[in-house]
Amino acid sequence: MVGYLSPTPKSPNGRQTRDAALSDRREFRFDRNHFDFIASLLYRLAGIHLAPHKIEMMYSRLARRLRELGLTDFDAYCARLDGESGEQEIRFLVNALTTNLTSFFRERHHFDHLGSVVLPAVREARAQTPRPRLRIWSAGCSSGPEPYTLAMILCDRIPDLRRWDARILATDIDTHMVTTAKQGLYPQESLKTIPAAMRDRFTRRILTDGDGPMISMADELRRLITFKPLNLLEPWPMRGPFDAIFCRNVLIYFDRPGRTAVIGNFADLLSSDSFLYLGHSESLYGVSGSFIQVGPTIYQRTTR
Ligand SMILES: C[S@@+](CC[C@H](N)C(=O)[O-])C[C@H]1O[C@@H](n2cnc3c(N)ncnc32)[C@H](O)[C@@H]1O
Repeated sequence: MVGYLSPTPKSPNGRQTRDAALSDRREFRFDRNHFDFIASLLYRLAGIHLAPHKIEMMYSRLARRLRELGLTDFDAYCARLDGESGEQEIRFLVNALTTNLTSFFRERHHFDHLGSVVLPAVREARAQTPRPRLRIWSAGCSSGPEPYTLAMILCDRIPDLRRWDARILATDIDTHMVTTAKQGLYPQESLKTIPAAMRDRFTRRILTDGDGPMISMADELRRLITFKPLNLLEPWPMRGPFDAIFCRNVLIYFDRPGRTAVIGNFADLLSSDSFLYLGHSESLYGVSGSFIQVGPTIYQRTTR
């Protein structure tokens, strides 16, 4: 534990005056000491670096939690994180402060590459194998659109998939997201990025008790995916090798040592000539020498 001490006011400067002005409008007093304490916990536990300008985001996401817990201020919340029930609360904290933005077929060129370059080559190379093995990992899968998109591509591009030993592993640090992903239920409007033919083939409209009709992912897709909570900065239980890893829009939250460690571990789990897909603003430049770039944010593991 970092150890939380109720803060003493610091001498005023520009930022603190601005923070104080914002603080006046808030329901709970929240200052830079609270921010720094919580941000350092998040960094140590999830590797996520929150810059000081995220102070409002942190406040608004956690204010709700203080209300739920019946706490009257952030001193009490920080003390709780630091206390006996801290471990349980920290899980909630990580869930609340991660950014889970995602969509089906996001950065579509990655799925086009997988479907038209990688899978045909794999099919050809493994054509004579009685039960060909295929492993893909969606690392940082959020609420699930990424692994379900991968499953659609596999079903669409490998006609005899039932003969294959094909698995998609989908992991995220946010346990709430993993539960949502496993449910595989989405509001109608989130499906509009799925090409119409695949939407018809792989999704089902169902009625729920709650907010009107929802769309369910087909069993054919669900069967392929294993969902698990996993912190990328902690030891990983799986051995690989993987044919492709999708880790998109996750590394941006890590600092350089975190990125270097995670990419090094990916390199160990990827077979020769397999592929790593990163998010649109991420790169391996200065992070790893084990890959060559073969497309926009598409990297191939060099032969070992
Ligand atoms: C912006 S979403 C990206 C989702 C998806 N990959 C995509 O590109 O659409 C980032 C995800 O990374 C997860 N994440 C952040 N830090 C993580 C960590 N240390 N270990 C595993 N997942 C993490 C977050 O919980 C979040 O769901």
